[in-house]
Amino acid sequence: MIEGWLTAKEGNVLYELAKNCSVDGVIVEVGSWKGKSTICLAKGSIAGNRMKIFAVDPHTGSAEHRKHGTVNTLAEFKRNIRQAEVQHIITPLVMTSEQAAEKFPMPVGLLFVDGSHDYADVKKDFDCWISRVIPNGIVAFHDSVKWSGVRKVVDELVYNSNRFRHIRLINSMTIAEKVYGNNFCERMQNRTGLLQKKVIELVEAVALIVLNVAGVLFEALMNLVGIKAETKL
Ligand SMILES: C[S@@+](CC[C@H](N)C(=O)[O-])C[C@H]1O[C@@H](n2cnc3c(N)ncnc32)[C@H](O)[C@@H]1O
Repeated sequence: MIEGWLTAKEGNVLYELAKNCSVDGVIVEVGSWKGKSTICLAKGSIAGNRMKIFAVDPHTGSAEHRKHGTVNTLAEFKRNIRQAEVQHIITPLVMTSEQAAEKFPMPVGLLFVDGSHDYADVKKDFDCWISRVIPNGIVAFHDSVKWSGVRKVVDELVYNSNRFRHIRLINSMTIAEKVYGNNFCERMQNRTGLLQKKVIELVEAVALIVLNVAGVLFEALMNLVGIKAETKL
């Protein structure tokens, strides 16, 4: 079992996207960690057109991973892709997204972004890579619901843009097709999709508040019961 944050459903979607990736562009992943998503992409690609996967990650973790000290996931990443027997289709680029995009020589058919979740960094990932994605190529952003940085970039630059259509939200992953220009109908579908996403975000936020309040009330109740039990003794 590889450590990571991808749900089974999101893993299946990555598999399908990679399987259906066009022969006109390679697959780029920004943020590989220990290889959970990379392996889904690799297996899908092997079942499809066998497009190469470029796995971009300095392997030093994002800010939230470095809270308790330095991180290096490269050895584990390599071990996991070897054990999954998919290493032959993966080229690890051990550098930042910006550095990799600077010299990247190939068109991209599928771009999966799951690097730093900070707004400025996600925007940089978007700006660096989007021009390399071919027309009708696919972009996917993980953690686009709860993480405000990713959410803001996706809402502003994908849902509200006229360069994307057929936007879907699968768990926390936003998936879209890049086009030269979307039509009126597609723009309306994107707006409706954004509205649905906002409702999901609201429901999740309310559920979190309810859970927290229930936790506090439960603790208070336990304390009260504990105090009463002590008084009886
Ligand atoms: C949430 S994890 C990725 C999880 C992975 N996709 C999975 O399914 O297990 C984020 C990763 O992004 C990487 N990262 C952070 N900043 C980056 C950057 N500027 N460019 C590329 N990767 C970055 C971190 O090193 C970390 O491994």
